[in-house]
Amino acid sequence: MASITIRNLDDEVKELLRRLAAENDRSMEEQARVMIRAAVDGQIGPVGRLDQIEKALHELANSQGTPASALAGKSLPRGTLSNKRILLIIGGGIAAYKALDLIRRLRERGAAVRVVMTSAAREFVTTLSVGALSADHVFTDLFDRNDEHDVGHIRLSREADLLVVAPATADLMAKLANGHANDLASTVLIATDKPVLMAPAMNPKMWSHPATRRNRATLGKDGIAFVGPAKGEMAESNEAGEGRMAEPLEIVAAVEALLDAGPKPLAGRKIIVTSGPTHEPIDPVRYIANRSSGKQGHAIAAALARLGADVRLVTGPVAIADPAGVKTVHVERAQEMRDAVEQLLPADAAVFVAAVADWRTENSAGEKIKKAAGEGPPMLRMVENPDILAGVGHHKQRPGLVVGFAAETQDLLRNAEAKLRKKGADLIVANDVSHTSGIGPSGVMGGDRNRVRIVSKAGVEEWPEMTKDEVAARLAALIAERLKTIIV
Ligand code: CTP
Repeated sequence: MASITIRNLDDEVKELLRRLAAENDRSMEEQARVMIRAAVDGQIGPVGRLDQIEKALHELANSQGTPASALAGKSLPRGTLSNKRILLIIGGGIAAYKALDLIRRLRERGAAVRVVMTSAAREFVTTLSVGALSADHVFTDLFDRNDEHDVGHIRLSREADLLVVAPATADLMAKLANGHANDLASTVLIATDKPVLMAPAMNPKMWSHPATRRNRATLGKDGIAFVGPAKGEMAESNEAGEGRMAEPLEIVAAVEALLDAGPKPLAGRKIIVTSGPTHEPIDPVRYIANRSSGKQGHAIAAALARLGADVRLVTGPVAIADPAGVKTVHVERAQEMRDAVEQLLPADAAVFVAAVADWRTENSAGEKIKKAAGEGPPMLRMVENPDILAGVGHHKQRPGLVVGFAAETQDLLRNAEAKLRKKGADLIVANDVSHTSGIGPSGVMGGDRNRVRIVSKAGVEEWPEMTKDEVAARLAALIAERLKTIIV
């Protein structure tokens, strides 16, 4: 594909481009892109001087009415988000500049994007830039009787399929968590019955403040979806930590997932996933268990379903909900999990995430074991449980792709390679639970983050620390890639 090198433009053009870019808080490349887009769409006519382009862009931004305006209707390409209407709320933070790229990425995929900006957001990016990119009027005020474009907060949310808040500041999160409605952004958020996705961005100290943690938890319970924040360098200072807004493409992926609009490379593929712990009974009221929460396994099942797979989840007892769009079978014991998995064969792939108890009591008591005077504690005789992964890995109906998990602290490659062979797996996702991993065994089990390495015959691939949802999305993409080469 051809590209324009700004350096090679005439000095006069370069100088005007630089000025326009600075005025609009854009990079010069971005400014050039906006102008070319507008010219291609016929929104600015032939011009003799570049400053006329600026005037034309002003007029263009002010003249856009609804997403069905000429520009939106005529130029929208077909893509994963075609016919989807996104209401983007830009909060006031340095990350607001990324919202400009986000608008472009959403529109590239065919979405119509309408934008509400808070007054703080307008300190960071101009309505002119936002309007030129969204090709629509930019909404800023709750009560603007002079605004001919005023459509009211109810209509703004009604005419969208999804609301995206990017950047979601601590203030916007606090307002929605507590039901405040004192400006257009907060009023639209509380008036909507559409799904809401927030991409938080703030200083790491603000993100880790107990008030923000509380608001994040409340919003999660209220059904608000989140993407990010990520760890990394902050734009405004030399500080690093958690609080960086997710990248525009990550936000787009979250939008596609929420609207179930992403690509479906796993359509027609049946995939079995095991998740959670098993409970091995001692007597009718006591059992042997482990700390597995099921979060990673359930997230993988959900991520595979989002890519179109027919997912069959076999889960031990967990406190989390069944993932949407997944057929879930509930079991308690390892033997029940093995039976349920074998009944689901044949399948295209199987992913064994469950923390299956290695042993069970040989005979669980039919009645509650009582303390009897003079007798010491009962002796529990243990026997080995079936290895479900190994059973499927060597099964005559073995799926084309078999993925196991392993918790390794040392000799990762040697241990994982031995496990690949012994259990007949194609990939082992090794949880790095060494204390140097920074997460540790107690952090991975039950926590929201994970750091994994992917071990296959080809070698080891190290993934950075991520949320369990991010690990799930990346693993689902890898499985889709691997299944491409397996013809059934
Ligand atoms: N697994 C299984 N059935 C079992 C035990 C384990 O399906 N009875 C699967 C798990 O779901 C996981 C992998 O096998 O995919 C883990 O193997 P395991 O040997 O238990 O490894 P670790 O938990 O890492 O422990 P260790 O190597 O120390 O035994």
